[in-house]
Amino acid sequence: MKVPLSKPYVDQDMRQRVLEVIDSGQYILGKHSKAFEGEFARFIGVKHAVLTSSGTSSIFLGLKALGVGPGDGVLVPSLTAFPTVEPVFHVGAHPIFVDIDETFTMDPNHIEDILKKGSPRPEVKKIKGIVPVHLYGHPAEVDSILDLAKRYDLFVLEDCCQAHGAKYKGRRVGSMGVAGCFSFYPSKNLTVFGDGGILVTSDDAIAKTCRMLRDHGRQEKYEHELVGYNMRFNEIQAAVGRLQLQRLEGFNESRRKIARWYNDGLGGLPLILPKVQSWAEAVFHLYVIQTSKRDELSSYLNERGVQTGVHYPIPNHQQPAVLNTLGQQPKLKKTEEVVDKILSLPMYPELNREQADFVCASIKEFFGKKGS
Ligand SMILES: Cc1ncc(COP(=O)(O)O)c(C=O)c1O
Repeated sequence: MKVPLSKPYVDQDMRQRVLEVIDSGQYILGKHSKAFEGEFARFIGVKHAVLTSSGTSSIFLGLKALGVGPGDGVLVPSLTAFPTVEPVFHVGAHPIFVDIDETFTMDPNHIEDILKKGSPRPEVKKIKGIVPVHLYGHPAEVDSILDLAKRYDLFVLEDCCQAHGAKYKGRRVGSMGVAGCFSFYPSKNLTVFGDGGILVTSDDAIAKTCRMLRDHGRQEKYEHELVGYNMRFNEIQAAVGRLQLQRLEGFNESRRKIARWYNDGLGGLPLILPKVQSWAEAVFHLYVIQTSKRDELSSYLNERGVQTGVHYPIPNHQQPAVLNTLGQQPKLKKTEEVVDKILSLPMYPELNREQADFVCASIKEFFGKKGS
């Protein structure tokens, strides 16, 4: 049996929509993009949504619109995709890396320790903001982060690239910080047929600036008020994204069901299973287990046709690009502990019971518990 790590959902309606857009002759920021922005904003519970070319560009535009630049420090988790951190460099600011808690998201206690000590390096004149990441589809501890942000006068820009539809105490991720950023990369909870992203916010000025910056700094065709970028979205992807959004709640329900199958099938083994906080509605972008035999287990599963992943083998405070730019970074105990143990199991909405049972049986076999 072959069980891939992830698989984007495609159906006949989506194929049909793509052909319709091709025939329409309108390919960039047209009627589907406008409609998708409205529908996505309503789904998250914010005033505005601005489609962009990727999750990375939505974080970049958010930081730009917030006026983040040279001399500014931005608190980011180290255990996240590197693109959470890249835009901080691109606006000329400094990432300050934060450790994780038991849900793999930013530890608010560590944020507070850093803020109490003040600027960690002379080039950082002021710590300006926090970019929490709702990693693997589990919300970060938003209330504690917002409380710290208020006390220290910081912005909170949510990286929701792995958490479309997740809820923190009943509120959708992306609706709690000053803005939230999403990716539509093909493995995400909401995908299109290529790259794409969206920034959501209820702040009129941020939405307006991002809208202008993504399209060469203009509102009128030949009048450029800002020096902007080409970070636009396209109609084929918007048409597909609208259909994916209609199915998102169902996809997330399937992901939670698969997570329950794994929880049941893997109980009692020498593994740490993912923890979901009582206040969280997680959307299981990834199902991440921990074992000190990670590499052996991963090879064993791969030989049996079960694809696995490691998200992420090198934490960002140890990435060569960071060390070469900023030099040695302070140690992050929990992050460094988990990166050798984490293993992502197959997870996508269409994964069926038989496949999940096969994954669990293969893991049991590995631990010598055949038939138990
Ligand atoms: C947490 C996180 N942030 C940012 C990104 C960047 O998104 P994109 O690949 O659409 O630029 C990703 C996806 O790779 C991600 O998982």
